[in-house]
Amino acid sequence: MISRWQATDCSFRWMIGRTTRNTDPMKILFLGDVMGRAGRTAIVNHLPRLRTAWKLDFVVVNGENATSGMGLSADHAKLLLDAGADVVTLGDHAFDQKDMLSFIEKENRIIRPMNYSKAAPGVGARVFNAPGGRKVHVAQVLGQVFMKRPFDDPFSALDSVLRQYPMGGQVSASLIDVHCEATSEKMAAGHFCDGRASIVVGTHTHVPTSDAMILPGGTAYQTDAGMCGDYNSVIGMDKVEPLRRFITGMPKARFTPAADEATLSGLYVETDNMTGKATRVEMVRQGGRLSQTGPE
Ligand SMILES: [Fe+2]
Ligand SMILES: [Fe+2]
Repeated sequence: MISRWQATDCSFRWMIGRTTRNTDPMKILFLGDVMGRAGRTAIVNHLPRLRTAWKLDFVVVNGENATSGMGLSADHAKLLLDAGADVVTLGDHAFDQKDMLSFIEKENRIIRPMNYSKAAPGVGARVFNAPGGRKVHVAQVLGQVFMKRPFDDPFSALDSVLRQYPMGGQVSASLIDVHCEATSEKMAAGHFCDGRASIVVGTHTHVPTSDAMILPGGTAYQTDAGMCGDYNSVIGMDKVEPLRRFITGMPKARFTPAADEATLSGLYVETDNMTGKATRVEMVRQGGRLSQTGPE
């Protein structure tokens, strides 16, 4: 026999569900590796406008190259967050700027790879609040193929975090940044997460791939989001020194980020709040030299 207390509790929960249920799709923008000053400037100049124009609910930006192409300083992390990023992900360059070792412990909107190192500060996955009482899970993994140093198995890390935060439960959407050199490893990660994450998007190689799609299980996927940087370059660096090294095999100077106008590159996704599955995906290229595209 059901008690009066239980009946009241059930009714109350039903009312809460009714009042907080949001039937509008979640509009999520992911932007790839911000490269140096050109990338930072493009974020500051364009992201606030895009947040309004595209009615974005949640924005994730990869910031691993935002400071001189090598890592992310605390000041530049604040700049990306102030410009409209809800979360900043990192990568293999996570701690190239030494102040990130302490800043990541204070700023919970920064995510480093889950499998970076057991001794690394910060976390590789976290759940964040989005408008309408919704929750978004964000995680990042590093690949193992062709990376400069070995990292732990990304697939077991993904499996464990997706079991912890299943879509359709406490989280409305789940975004995975797969930071890998090999396109094959990123595609494998996409299929591994299909139906368990809303978005799997690749970073690290700085050139956008034209394969944005919704996988059969409902996961939005793109092998590489591309960088937010100057594309008149070699993956974001001024082209003179990389060309010299390719042609002569001899370094003469340091790499410096290319400085002309950047293209914001990334992925726009709409997701269903109840299932977490993607309902729309569009590639994004705004400003700078690349051909332009977006959800409009
Ligand atoms: Fe990287
Ligand atoms: Fe990068």
